[in-house]
Amino acid sequence: MIISPIDVNKDIPLVERVVREAFASTPDSDLSDWFSFSEMVGSIKRSQGICLKATDENGEVVGIIHAQQENPVYGREGTEKWVITNIAVVSPASGKGVGSQLLEAIEAEIKKRGGVKLFVHTNVGDNRVIRFYYKNGYKNAGTILDYYYAGSAVFLLKSLGKTRD
Ligand SMILES: CC(C)(COP(=O)(O)OP(=O)(O)OC[C@H]1O[C@@H](n2cnc3c(N)ncnc32)[C@H](O)[C@@H]1OP(=O)(O)O)[C@@H](O)C(=O)NCCC(=O)NCCS
Repeated sequence: MIISPIDVNKDIPLVERVVREAFASTPDSDLSDWFSFSEMVGSIKRSQGICLKATDENGEVVGIIHAQQENPVYGREGTEKWVITNIAVVSPASGKGVGSQLLEAIEAEIKKRGGVKLFVHTNVGDNRVIRFYYKNGYKNAGTILDYYYAGSAVFLLKSLGKTRD
C-alpha cells in the first residue's frame, strides 16, 4: 500500500468515488448533508488542509483521508488543533489496516506542520468507527448532545506528542 498526497488538480473525482463507495452502506450516504469537496480543495490550496490517498498494488485508490486546521480564526489555538473531516476506505479493502495507515501518515504530516492535537467526531453509537479510533490511540473526549442536525456526536482526540514552545 502506498500512502501519498492527492494531486488536487487531478484526483478529486477519484476521492469523490472512494468516499461515495465507502459511505454508501452507512447512514451518512447523502454526502451533501455533511461534506463539501470544494471546501476540501480550498483548505488544501490555502495550506490549511491535507488529503492523502492509499493506492493498492494494482494501482487502485482504495482509501482517502482529509484533515484540516480546526479554524484559523482562533489564532494559534485553531491552527495547532486539527480535525479529521473525512476518512474512507472502500469495503473490499476495509479491515486490513488501510484506515490505520492513512491515520498514521496524516498524523505525521500534521505534526510536521506544527499540529499539536487532532480530533474527530462521529455519531454516538457508531461503535465500529469509535473502536477504530480507540485502536489508533484516540481517547473519548466527550459527547455533545444534538450536535448534528439529526443526533449527537462523540468526540475522539489524540495528542500528537508535541508541546507548545
Ligand atoms: C472506518 C474506516 C475508515 C476504517 O478503515 P479500515 O481500513 O477498515 O480500518 P483498519 O483495517 O485500519 O482497522 C480495522 C478496525 O477498525 C474498525 N472498523 C470500523 N469499520 C470497519 C469496517 N467497515 N470493516 C472492518 N473494520 C472496521 C474495527 O474495530 C477494526 O478492528 P478489528 O479488525 O480488530 O475488528 C472504514 O471502515 C470506512 O471507510 N468506513 C466507512 C466510512 C466511515 O464510517 N468513516 C468514518 C467516519 S468518521
